[in-house]
Amino acid sequence: MQRETESSTREGPAPGAGPSPTALLEVDHLTTRYGPIEAVRDVSLRVNEGEITAILGPNGAGKSTILGSIMGLVRPTSGKVHFVGRDVTGSEPETMVRMGVGLVPEGRRLFKELTVSDNLRLGAATRKDKDAAKKDLETMFELFPILKERRGQLAGLLSGGEAQQLAIARTMMTAPRLLCLDEPSLGLAPRLVDAVFDLLKDLRQRGYTILLVEQNALQVLEFADHAYVLRNGRVQMEAKGDSTQDERELLQAYLGVKD
Ligand SMILES: Nc1ncnc2c1ncn2[C@@H]1O[C@H](COP(=O)(O)OP(=O)(O)OP(=O)(O)O)[C@@H](O)[C@H]1O
Ligand SMILES: [Mg+2]
Repeated sequence: MQRETESSTREGPAPGAGPSPTALLEVDHLTTRYGPIEAVRDVSLRVNEGEITAILGPNGAGKSTILGSIMGLVRPTSGKVHFVGRDVTGSEPETMVRMGVGLVPEGRRLFKELTVSDNLRLGAATRKDKDAAKKDLETMFELFPILKERRGQLAGLLSGGEAQQLAIARTMMTAPRLLCLDEPSLGLAPRLVDAVFDLLKDLRQRGYTILLVEQNALQVLEFADHAYVLRNGRVQMEAKGDSTQDERELLQAYLGVKD
């Protein structure tokens, strides 16, 4: 959106290695515990600028805990999080939002008693560039025509698919450099799941960087640039969007998914 696209890197491409994508986010050896429960165990991952990176895995694998640890909602037990080359480990959520990390949380968490427009405006509440935020509101209405149509309606009256669009648009109103989504397809009919995934592909075309947490593994593998398969808090496999059928079947076995 109004954010600059050039990036500052901690380390440039290695000499002679050709252009390598810039890591916007790097998670190194992250472990997060809730008391005795080790929810995330020694997880390392990287999100390159302009790409869709997916974290896939079954219930309880630790996906939301990874996002929470990045966003500062949960304090990591050990390990590091770097965003645009800066060590942001254990930063407050407000700091992460200000730095340009946006999270669309599991379950959407909209302000149901407020209108669609007010939900969107609240997304921009912490921004200082008010003129740009106003312009972004118009962009959101272009990107999500249904929200424009329903802008005066209470958010609590939206359908599941519309509410998910609003949750995504509200986070985009923070002008994130990195958009994190926690299971945006949850509870949506297949047609609406397709619509949400098409939207994410469209956002990537527009230059957004996306970190997507999903259980809908096989479908996400079709468009993600990079995927990490998580199980019991650990990264079990890494895969690319152009994985072969054999690799997909292996992944399917890992995920225990029956499609
Ligand atoms: N606040 C908490 N206190 C204690 N344990 C927790 C807490 N949050 C999550 N856990 C546990 O940590 C593990 C990982 O949970 P997490 O929510 O990260 O998984 P997930 O992959 O997001 O699952 P889902 O797909 O069901 O959302 C689970 O065993 C869960 O029970
Ligand atoms: Mg979760």
